[in-house]
Amino acid sequence: KETKLWGGRFEESVTEKVEKFTESISFDKVLYKQDIMGSKAHATMLAHQGLITDSDRDSILQGLDEIERKIERDEFEWRTDREDVHMNIEAALTDLIGEPAKKLHTARSRNDQVATDFRLWCRDAIDTIVVKIKNLQTALVQLALKNEGLIVPGYTHLQRAQPVLLPHVLLTYVEQLERDAGRYIDCRERLNVCPLGACALAGTGLPIDRFMTASALGFTEPMRNRFVPSYYFLFFNLARLLIYYVFFSSTSISIDAVSDRDFVLEFLYANSNTAIHLSRLGEEWVLWASEEFGFMTPSDSVSTGSSIMPQKKNPDPMELVRGKSARVIGDLVTVLTLCKGLPLAYNRDFQEDKEPMFDSTKTIMGMIDVSAEFAQNVTFNEERIKRSLPAGHLDATTLADYLVKKGMPFRSSHDVVGKLVGVCVSRGCELQNLSLEEMKKLSPVFEEDVFGFLGVENSVNKFSSYGSTGSNCVAEQLGYWVNKLKIT
Ligand code: ARG
Repeated sequence: KETKLWGGRFEESVTEKVEKFTESISFDKVLYKQDIMGSKAHATMLAHQGLITDSDRDSILQGLDEIERKIERDEFEWRTDREDVHMNIEAALTDLIGEPAKKLHTARSRNDQVATDFRLWCRDAIDTIVVKIKNLQTALVQLALKNEGLIVPGYTHLQRAQPVLLPHVLLTYVEQLERDAGRYIDCRERLNVCPLGACALAGTGLPIDRFMTASALGFTEPMRNRFVPSYYFLFFNLARLLIYYVFFSSTSISIDAVSDRDFVLEFLYANSNTAIHLSRLGEEWVLWASEEFGFMTPSDSVSTGSSIMPQKKNPDPMELVRGKSARVIGDLVTVLTLCKGLPLAYNRDFQEDKEPMFDSTKTIMGMIDVSAEFAQNVTFNEERIKRSLPAGHLDATTLADYLVKKGMPFRSSHDVVGKLVGVCVSRGCELQNLSLEEMKKLSPVFEEDVFGFLGVENSVNKFSSYGSTGSNCVAEQLGYWVNKLKIT
């Protein structure tokens, strides 16, 4: 049996059960790219600081390149007895280049190493997600453009409320997704600081340069315990680095660097919030695709059938978008619970943050992609929607506003229209079917022009203030998004 990299003080080797239970290589090997990147930056810095020779550095860099190629060609042997991705790569490097590899872990611990790798991984994942969100927003805006004038019932309490334009509904999801993207970008900015060099927890007495590794890895700075507002990073980055380097480099706090998993939680929360939005979209579209609503028809390419009922065509992708949001939320709760009672600094418990993160990220990416694909493959049933529109007195609020425009207090107009709706309900008709005389019985304020406020087409365009559903406002909003998303 090979001695562990940490085996010096041990007289017995670990049991097989313990080895199997404590390994993380089965899932953390996906961090290999980030781990190699981090090691290269670290070795380069060590040489620059005279802690290893230039020739040691060169063999380390070449060896790491070779290992990366092997991994990518699937020729690398991942070994459970080497525990995790960090020790697998370091041990393989030692097998490959010998002595110089033993210097790589100078002024480094797996504690700062894993925190660094994971931040780098999250940063990449966030960049991918933000692009995917843009694609979904684009698909939704394109769907809106295809159905620009289509009026649908708007609901509150899932009861018919007021008429709205379909693009207005779709742009709601686009706005939600924009906030989601913003959350990812905020999270990225906060996580983009470098723990490397914090070592186990206390830092090091060796003359390393944390600014050099931080900048080589694209971090804004090494982790520290001072609050600097983000605009400061943007405008004074170079000057600040210089000032910190010369005067304050000793204030960099190593304990926080290895103890912090806020970035994991924030990312998982961003995924959860996005998941909730997509789940609501899924629910709405599942309803809309039902016989009862009949608003939309998904194409066959995004539907699945039943093994027993020959007639079935189900909107499974959106049901699963709704369903998979559960695991994304669960992953967040897992890591919240994982972190809640941990003392400083590194605890092995942290190893349990990987799988929920990988699961959550893979899931949310799939959810975003499939929602976009679904959006590209649905048609709205204009005729059917139109036929259903007269029901539900969607124009009642517009009628109340009509009376307000004629000078009536809103509470009174609400009451008058409520009574008219009562008449309609008992007669089984709509407001626009009442005669002017009938309306006048309830208020003398009604005039012939009232009919210009009734019916969904008239009604929808009376919603004209900023952000409302009237066609001018919606066209403006659509224009904004077409421009922003560079849709041609
Ligand atoms: N594999 C561990 C993790 O994912 C990193 C190893 C740190 N282990 C240690 N014994 N200090 O968190």
